[in-house]
Amino acid sequence: VAQQRSKISVIGTGYLGATHAACMAELGFEVLGLDVDTVKIDSLSSGRVPFYEPGLEEVLSRNLANGRLRFTTDYREVAEFADVHFICVGTPQRADSNAADLTYVNAAIDALAPLLDRPAVVIGKSTVPVGTAAVAAARIADLAPAGAQVELGWSPEFLREGFGVEDTLRPNRIVIGAAPGSQRVEAAMREVSRQQIEQGIPFLVTDLQTAELVKVSANAFLATKISFINAMAEVSEVAGADVIKLAKALSYDDRIGGKFLGPGLGFGGGCLPKDIRAFMARADELGVEPALSFLREVDAINQRRRARTIDIARGLIGGSFAGRTVAVLGAAFKPNSDDIRDSPALDVASTISSLGAAVTVYDPEALENARRAHPDLGYAHSMLEAVRDAEVVLLLTEWAEFRDADPDELAKMVRERKIVDGRNALDPEHWRARGWTYRALGRP
Ligand code: UGA
Repeated sequence: VAQQRSKISVIGTGYLGATHAACMAELGFEVLGLDVDTVKIDSLSSGRVPFYEPGLEEVLSRNLANGRLRFTTDYREVAEFADVHFICVGTPQRADSNAADLTYVNAAIDALAPLLDRPAVVIGKSTVPVGTAAVAAARIADLAPAGAQVELGWSPEFLREGFGVEDTLRPNRIVIGAAPGSQRVEAAMREVSRQQIEQGIPFLVTDLQTAELVKVSANAFLATKISFINAMAEVSEVAGADVIKLAKALSYDDRIGGKFLGPGLGFGGGCLPKDIRAFMARADELGVEPALSFLREVDAINQRRRARTIDIARGLIGGSFAGRTVAVLGAAFKPNSDDIRDSPALDVASTISSLGAAVTVYDPEALENARRAHPDLGYAHSMLEAVRDAEVVLLLTEWAEFRDADPDELAKMVRERKIVDGRNALDPEHWRARGWTYRALGRP
């Protein structure tokens, strides 16, 4: 006889929650996903993922069909159904400051906790400023009818967009923070992670604060690594060095490693930029602002890459964008995503447009999102259409389609064979041999 397994709820069905809910069902659990957004819930209930995430739709459909996965907008249903509740709501940057906006985390806890009238575990997964979980735990203790039989833990999520399913089923580590004296949190998390633990995936139990910090410090480290190599690109540009060869040589030292050492236009997206800003804001509140002041530089280096890319393109077309025709390849903040939040590509495209150029953008997946956010830009439905009559082409998101582009085919469409490779995605020798003026960041 199979042991009674915990039933799981996932509150918030954005990138993180929708992926988490589908993957938990895939691991064999009965899962109920909740969102206050009926459009999202209708879409997920009918097997459609409302964003681009390779492989997720199959996992979603399979588990809707086998009955392990359902969605609702009703907190009462969730409270009755589940023993373990995952909080996966967004924590965007506040409109009025760099701090994280905790509105959705607080709203989820305020809606759920008063309905918890039997033993349950609430596990936060959202990225939050250190100290948030302890406050949330106190709030739950106040509100939950079952009192101390409801416990809060925090288990940060490290999934990358584009690899969400893989990263959720096989994370490189599982971290769970619990309050001192906690009885249920670790056991609940061990149960829902049993298969991963059996595969040898490291399982770390910490206090709440450490768990919260693991997440933001991991993203801060990754952002720092990218900005480090981009700073070396800045130096290389004036010193006449080649940052690609430099990065390669550095990468053989396994204390440094080659991952996230890719120089180019820098980082964007819904996580790295806002997380380092919220981390600095929190350090400020805690009175340790100097400890993270280097992240201000990390952010500044990242922004300067965008300006540099624009300068290189402007230089190639004679010093002004006014009245010129520019093609931009890429709109998503990275390949294999339709996410345009803080997208370096769209930031560059809209700046060039505001400087007077006619800009046409193409992206394999993010066109609709881009058009909604930047209706002022021109859009094309293929790479070749985008580069028609272009006086300069900018490659700003390194989709495979662009990496594999044939310089001769593009040459037939453009007015001038000039390309700025903002992601160091192309082979300079190859493009130059086909008659292109090729420019990249950090290379001669
Ligand atoms: C990032 C982290 O990698 C995840 O571990 C984390 O869970 C997630 O944030 C989050 O906090 O939710 P993600 O935003 O999906 O994941 O994207 P990344 O793959 O980290 O890329 C971030 C940005 O860095 C992209 O704009 C990418 O183009 C840029 N990047 C990455 C570089 O410029 N150079 C590199 O070498 C690597």
